[in-house]
Amino acid sequence: MKITILSLFPEILSGFFESSIMKRAVERNLVEYELVDIRDYATDRHRKCDDEVYGGGAGMLMLPGPLGMALDAAGAGEARTVFMTPSGRLLNQALARDLSTEARLILICGRYEGIDQRIVDKFVDDEVSIGDYVLSSGEVAAMVLVDAVYRLIPGVISGESLAEESFSGSAGDSHDTGPLGPSLLEYPQYTRPADYATMKVPDVLTSGHHAKILRWRLKEQLRKTLAYRPELLATGGLPKEALDLLREISTEGGET
Ligand code: ADE
Repeated sequence: MKITILSLFPEILSGFFESSIMKRAVERNLVEYELVDIRDYATDRHRKCDDEVYGGGAGMLMLPGPLGMALDAAGAGEARTVFMTPSGRLLNQALARDLSTEARLILICGRYEGIDQRIVDKFVDDEVSIGDYVLSSGEVAAMVLVDAVYRLIPGVISGESLAEESFSGSAGDSHDTGPLGPSLLEYPQYTRPADYATMKVPDVLTSGHHAKILRWRLKEQLRKTLAYRPELLATGGLPKEALDLLREISTEGGET
């Protein structure tokens, strides 16, 4: 996949592509990236990229001229083009998986109050928000989106790790409905030492009893989802084993 990101502050993004798993994905040619400084397409000597909003209102808007030229140069006509904005549709695992199948992605990072609507009308395929809060710019949001997407490209990380994590079986995620039906949050995990700061790893995890471990993990997934994201359980479709465990949890009154 080739990812092009248009930004007024591309230096925020460069470290992300030069570190860790992303760095390896780039070296292995699974990901190619291009960071475009929108200011390079400004036409005046001050490299101006923003102006006041027609009709009044606080703040400045990114000018359509430089951004449009940057998009043309990046080949926006041939790539899925996404504008990062708090007024877009919410990013979730299903959308990340959908985007991960694209050969080319272009992301536009907004600054100031946003971008001119004519740029959206002419170039943008999707407007995407990473959550119901307002960031000072789209760069951090773009990194979140790219991170959620590139790791789903075959070969970037192991299929086993993907299948086991939270949301791998989320509703609307056509790739894998998971053994547990709809999406659940991930269970707690432990590593050595078995005794840390007087806290012991749950006995079942060192018992070697595979079926019991699976049951414990499912129960902890349910417990966590119930505590933090109860709406995920309300969608239905839970297998009987999960419903039984939920009943067990509800009679436990807080203990594990
Ligand atoms: N830009 C500012 N806030 C944002 C958000 N929540 N999602 C995507 N882009 C943004």
